[in-house]
Amino acid sequence: MIVLRNSVWNAQPNQLLKTSIVDKSVENLLALMTTTEKVGQLNLYNGTWDFTGPVPQDNSTQERADNIKKGLVGGMLNVLTVDAIREAQEMAVEESRLGIPMIFGYDVVHGYKTMMPIPLAQTASWDSDVAYETNRIAAIEAASSGLNWAFAPMIDVSRDGRWGRIMEGGGEDPYLTSVMAVAWIRGFQQDDLSDPLTMAACAKHFAAYGFAEAGRDYNTTDVSDQTLFNIVLPPFKAAVEAGVVSVMNGFNDLNGVPVTADGRLQRDILKGDWGFEGFVVSDFNSVGELVTHGFVKDEKAAARAAFMAGSDMEMDSRQYERHLNALVDEGAIDMAMLDDAVRRILKVKFELGLFEDPYRYCNKERATSNVLTADHLAAARDAARKTMVLLKNDNDLLPIAKDVASIAVIGQLAAHKDIPLGSWRAQAPANSAVSVLEGIREVATGEVTYTEGYRLVEEKRHFIHEVPFSEQNRNGFSDAIQIARQAEVVVMVIGEDCFQSGEGRSQVDTQLKGNQVELLAEIVKVNPNVIVVLMNGRPVVIPDVVNIVPAVLESWFGGSASGNAIADVLFGDYNPSGKLPVSFPYHTGQEPLYYNHKNGGRPVTNDFDAGKVFWSHYTDAPNEPLFPFGFGLSYSIFSYNDLTLSSHQLRSGEELKASVNVTNKSNMNGEEVVQLYIRDLYGSTTRPVKELKAFEKVMIRAGETRTITFKISTDDLAYYWPDGRYCAEEGDFHIFIGGNSRDVLQAEFELL
Ligand code: BGC
Repeated sequence: MIVLRNSVWNAQPNQLLKTSIVDKSVENLLALMTTTEKVGQLNLYNGTWDFTGPVPQDNSTQERADNIKKGLVGGMLNVLTVDAIREAQEMAVEESRLGIPMIFGYDVVHGYKTMMPIPLAQTASWDSDVAYETNRIAAIEAASSGLNWAFAPMIDVSRDGRWGRIMEGGGEDPYLTSVMAVAWIRGFQQDDLSDPLTMAACAKHFAAYGFAEAGRDYNTTDVSDQTLFNIVLPPFKAAVEAGVVSVMNGFNDLNGVPVTADGRLQRDILKGDWGFEGFVVSDFNSVGELVTHGFVKDEKAAARAAFMAGSDMEMDSRQYERHLNALVDEGAIDMAMLDDAVRRILKVKFELGLFEDPYRYCNKERATSNVLTADHLAAARDAARKTMVLLKNDNDLLPIAKDVASIAVIGQLAAHKDIPLGSWRAQAPANSAVSVLEGIREVATGEVTYTEGYRLVEEKRHFIHEVPFSEQNRNGFSDAIQIARQAEVVVMVIGEDCFQSGEGRSQVDTQLKGNQVELLAEIVKVNPNVIVVLMNGRPVVIPDVVNIVPAVLESWFGGSASGNAIADVLFGDYNPSGKLPVSFPYHTGQEPLYYNHKNGGRPVTNDFDAGKVFWSHYTDAPNEPLFPFGFGLSYSIFSYNDLTLSSHQLRSGEELKASVNVTNKSNMNGEEVVQLYIRDLYGSTTRPVKELKAFEKVMIRAGETRTITFKISTDDLAYYWPDGRYCAEEGDFHIFIGGNSRDVLQAEFELL
């Protein structure tokens, strides 16, 4: 056994931020504050009213404004526009006794006005530059609009395509999510939070929110320590190491304790063992919901439980505001702990430069000149094309020649200018995406015909997140079949409405809705050259699509420039390089489905193998996914050869090198994501059949062979034991290298 780190979960509770690391100004200010003012800093109000319009007469609004003026509010969310933010800030700064500025937060999940691809798509790029650049631009736009705190990135690992919020994170793997998390945070925060074009990031949701039982959002989570420490927590640890200044907890209860009131998570691990110096914010009303969970008797107890557990700032349920003063007076909350929470929040406000100039983010000129710029849209296009995953391309149907005589474009999603913006689209103007049809028309020189064919959703939404499914009529079928019959090539766009995924958007069946696949089956009868472009926010069930068409391109929800980016790939101006960050199942019933599963005692190596009844399998579907994690084709053909290890033995503290030759056998330059997995063959606890440990995205020219070398250290082989130690164990390991998690070369070594 090689112990690499001390226990993570036996750290002392109630670890408080050491004053020595806090700026002196924070201490000076803290010394001036009354208990009521301190509690005020912990309140985060939802800004649902319009400050700049006629002052609403609603009592609660008036009361909230009065509280801001009394210095009883630390920050606000959902206050939009420079004018509204300035007006709110003026109330806090000009009218309160100490003039402490507020922090302004918003869900800047994948862009502010210029929409970038959804985070799951960004992860499909396997390119941290994409994550960094998209959030750098999102920060410029949001900070120029007065905001200084992004409620992102969401780095909840999720293995379940039914869970609608899977679109918002980095998919099923802890290592890949960690790589993206670091880049997302750096993109927001850069090296200087006080720069008016950067903003504070918030890693969320701490923790295990992505493990909602049965994929149903907000549902309970029951996760072993082994899974918690090895799968769920690594991205958060990476986020803390990258300097994230805030962390949001979540709605779920974890192993019987709602995470908002989980002191082990927030105090022992996050603030204790990891030394997190920023602040923790609760999720929307999650403090109040502690009562509904059945975790505490009443709201006062909820306030105390959340606070004691390390939730510093409280999002909108106003339980801190109502009860913390009394709890401090009664001695139920220690003043030192209150000071610690306030100190953490003030520190971030100082770092944001808000004490120097509380209006530094409020600049009307920047608010118009820094959004939706040509540069930002070009970056959105570049990001989107890097996120696309080519799932099938028989007979090199793709790329399409630009001068092909005729293309039939079919599908409601093909002409849609709103759905590609995705869920969590912040302030993107409605219908501002480039549609696939527009993208194709800009490039193709031949005839391009279009018809809707199927209708997935009615256009009219009564509220923003509604999914108004259309009735299942076949009125558009005959026109679609007609134009398909006459065209040389058909591009049919199918998938999901953007609000089928996202918060509160879980689905029990992840097959494509409506009669889009039924129409597709009719189209392929009249034209064999059908290219399917998928738009969706989760791994969808598509064997009935893949089996009947020669080419399938996964485009996710690609954001503002989606249609151009799709055309770039369809016509070969960009050679696809994306790889799946999630496994695509044959059947929803396989979920949760993930590549880094355990072997079990009765594994099946060959699905449906006759006679294998008493083995771990389904009798009506394979165990394996339709498309495995890490899968994605290119217009280039890559072959992997000669996996060699520098040694077949590794001693603690030493490194082992694994090299592989990757050849581009095509006549097209292309990028490939070379992936390295390990398997620890036996251990104190059972280990996954594969674990991603490294990857490299490399350009390989036509005909070229490149040798890719990875270094493996003992640290890469370690994992958290049930007793909290982080150890690598002596024994036998496999190394796998390949272009996805399934098709790999294998070598062996021993850890001594
Ligand atoms: C979500 C958070 C989000 C917050 C504020 C909650 O419902 O879970 O992720 O940041 O709302 O909009």
